[in-house]
Amino acid sequence: MGKPKFSLMDKTLNPEIVDGKMNAFVKVPYGIQVRLSHPLGKDGYGRVTVDGIPISRGKIFKLDMVIKADVLYLPVGEVAREFDREYTLELTGFKTAEGVPYPDCSFKIKTTAKSRPDPAFAENDEVALEAAREGMVLLRNEKGVLPLKEGAVLNCFGRGQYMYRNTSTGASMINPRWQPDFMDAIKEHSSFSVNEELSALYCYLQDVTPGGNMLEKAKEQSDTAVILISRTSGEFLDNHPDKGSYYLTDDEEAMIKAVTAVFDKTVAIINSGFPMDIAWTQKYGIDAVVYTGFTGMLSSYALMEILDGRTNPSGKLPDTWARDYYDSPAAHNFINFKEGDEIPGEKDKGVRLYYEEDIYVGYRYFDSFGKAPAYSFGHGLSYTDFALETGKPSFDGNNVTLQVTITNTGKRAGKETAQLYLHAPEGKLEKPYRVLAAFEKTKELKPGEKELLALTACASDFASFDEETGSYLLEAGTYEVYCGNSLAKAVLAGCFTVGKTETLRTVERVCRPVEEFKRLNRENGTAEAVSQLVDLDQRIRVRAPRPSYQPLPLKKHTGKKIIYAQVKENPGLMDEFVSQMSDKELCRMNVCGGSNWYLPWQNGEAGKTNVIKKYKMPRMLVSDGNTGINVKKKNIGMPCSASIAATFNKELAYRVGSVIAKESKAQNIYQNLGPGMNIHRNVLNGRHPEYFSEDPYLAGMMAGMHAKGMEDNGVGSCYKHMFCNNSDTSRKGSHSIVSERALREIYFRVFEVAIAVQKPSAVMTSYNAVNGIYPAENADVIQKLIRGEWGIDGMVMTDWGTYDTVDAVEMVKAGNCWLTEGSKKYSRLLEQAVKEGRLSRAVLERNVRSVISTMLKRV
Ligand code: BGC
Repeated sequence: MGKPKFSLMDKTLNPEIVDGKMNAFVKVPYGIQVRLSHPLGKDGYGRVTVDGIPISRGKIFKLDMVIKADVLYLPVGEVAREFDREYTLELTGFKTAEGVPYPDCSFKIKTTAKSRPDPAFAENDEVALEAAREGMVLLRNEKGVLPLKEGAVLNCFGRGQYMYRNTSTGASMINPRWQPDFMDAIKEHSSFSVNEELSALYCYLQDVTPGGNMLEKAKEQSDTAVILISRTSGEFLDNHPDKGSYYLTDDEEAMIKAVTAVFDKTVAIINSGFPMDIAWTQKYGIDAVVYTGFTGMLSSYALMEILDGRTNPSGKLPDTWARDYYDSPAAHNFINFKEGDEIPGEKDKGVRLYYEEDIYVGYRYFDSFGKAPAYSFGHGLSYTDFALETGKPSFDGNNVTLQVTITNTGKRAGKETAQLYLHAPEGKLEKPYRVLAAFEKTKELKPGEKELLALTACASDFASFDEETGSYLLEAGTYEVYCGNSLAKAVLAGCFTVGKTETLRTVERVCRPVEEFKRLNRENGTAEAVSQLVDLDQRIRVRAPRPSYQPLPLKKHTGKKIIYAQVKENPGLMDEFVSQMSDKELCRMNVCGGSNWYLPWQNGEAGKTNVIKKYKMPRMLVSDGNTGINVKKKNIGMPCSASIAATFNKELAYRVGSVIAKESKAQNIYQNLGPGMNIHRNVLNGRHPEYFSEDPYLAGMMAGMHAKGMEDNGVGSCYKHMFCNNSDTSRKGSHSIVSERALREIYFRVFEVAIAVQKPSAVMTSYNAVNGIYPAENADVIQKLIRGEWGIDGMVMTDWGTYDTVDAVEMVKAGNCWLTEGSKKYSRLLEQAVKEGRLSRAVLERNVRSVISTMLKRV
């Protein structure tokens, strides 16, 4: 055994990152990684100080993929908060598992300089700012507290003022060129000043209640209190129905109670990635509430503009805000895990999640079952007033059209949204009370100005799926058309009648449940908690048979060698190009060439295609990029998808996608791993900010426009995660049991809506199982639905490391053409399967054909 030794993996750190790259795994603020030469013993932790100030001890995670090593993650960000400064990090008193002491040691670490805007990118930054402005939602504004007066002193409460979050962790993380935080924004982008004495209380990130006569003194400076509440959320980081997560901590509540007792005017800024508890704003009589969401690199600037009225808020909620977590229908069947829990799928636990709420997801439940939410779907206030005047709806057998005139009747310029909801008659099938079927947003209207909007809803946007026949039905009866600037305010605009039930289309059956389970309906009225934590091998108790898929081999190429450039020139050569490859080469192309993100000196791409030199193939790099390119080189930082959805502005979603594409190409990345667009089934899913909405139409439309922006500008989009990745921490161990109707009307529907706007260059399957089989190995899903019904011919890839829990050969056999993140181990495994006759060359050829077709579009 060599001598125990620590080595620093990164010497510089960026205090602008609030949650830290590793936050998804270690759940502590930003920090630094220290490699351990020997594992620590249970009591082997010593003391860690930064410039002599102790920090809470680190967490250990294994960096298995790249270097077999234990890495200690130290949240030095608790102390190293200043920019461009050297700090001394000391580790003392650590011991290995054998009790051998690590020598005490000291390292110099340095924080980066504060980032500044680069004028060369001003146009792109402007789009990020515009999206941030429109992505914020004004939930409440009593007594006209907002906007605040010019030059006001801000009495700010809560550590959120020093932990202002603009993005989520994990795949949707951004690495922006510059990102003013809350305090920067006050100084640089507002006429406000801050009550420094008060703010100083929060700089060590604690929610303290000011003592003595501090509150009274603060009130003398300004009669308004601004309370900041912040919550993280992201990949592998589900939230919980607990204090500090969905609910307030005791400290936060005590602070709010004290502040509201003294101040008459209070503003709450909810800087959270998901709809958290809101009951406290009512309980403590908060006057104004702004929901920032995670609105990207210029979020704090947009917030200042909303606070002082330069921007008139126009965002609308893409999700219902329940009065309490347990009011929402999926609350009863959502199992997630906390720090310290064994993560299902990683060890020996799995979960079975019954989607009992069925088609009643989000507002479909609240609206149909008469349950009042705190804020309805589509809600969002403005500083001006609008009048909506609707014409009479018309229906031509396929499209419903409604003309809406929106007039700004107030005193400030602003934008407004018209939302069209359809109520379908009860017939053979029970229906949700109303569903969103169209929406449009005005331009900025000056006081007195009006705009005529034409809203068109297509029958497929409000048809229902009949499980008996596998058909989408437009049932006979009277349809009611509602319109308003939110679901709660939508009023009846008129009706139309469908004389005879029509079958819009009949589909191939895929992914049907293989076990009975209770489904919420009008009669039984409630969902119960029936989902279970089970042994891992029990997770898929009733396994659906694996459908088989046997394509014909491509015509064997016999002529001269064809190189990639020739196929690029003449795509007609594709089949010959692929068929000339040896089995081994095909296997290599079926597997991703590994990621580039673990070590501090790597670029951070999530993956790359393998290159077979003799065909002079280029390499295609892929990266996450819902919000900006998730690589280490700085680039744009757009709002997260949920905030893009909140803009209800399709054209803006398109521009966001366009900018991401332009910046992506500059980094040599031509295939993006987004947008992610799973349905917001439960607000606690860590990926909530990364997905768009609880409503499949809004989510699909906005995701499609975002993708179109990318594709039109030369970068491939990838729709993910197919399907039902609705709780992220347990994603590799969870099994979603969902009715075929809910899949068709909600969980598949979102993808279908997006595909109608823009066909993606690629799609990604999810980790979890659905109805007894993993979509990643389900040939019905890949061949009948994705390829057949939806006509997608590009690559179908797995999510990263799906092969940890799903058989790699079975996935490839089903037509999953890119095993990610890949290594030689997996191409050898495929070669072995070919040799043993378990995997046909014809399947490999078809898969590689799809990989190449995605590549040809881009590289
Ligand atoms: C995430 C994907 C992401 C991939 C590559 C996975 O952990 O679930 O959404 O695209 O990593 O970063």
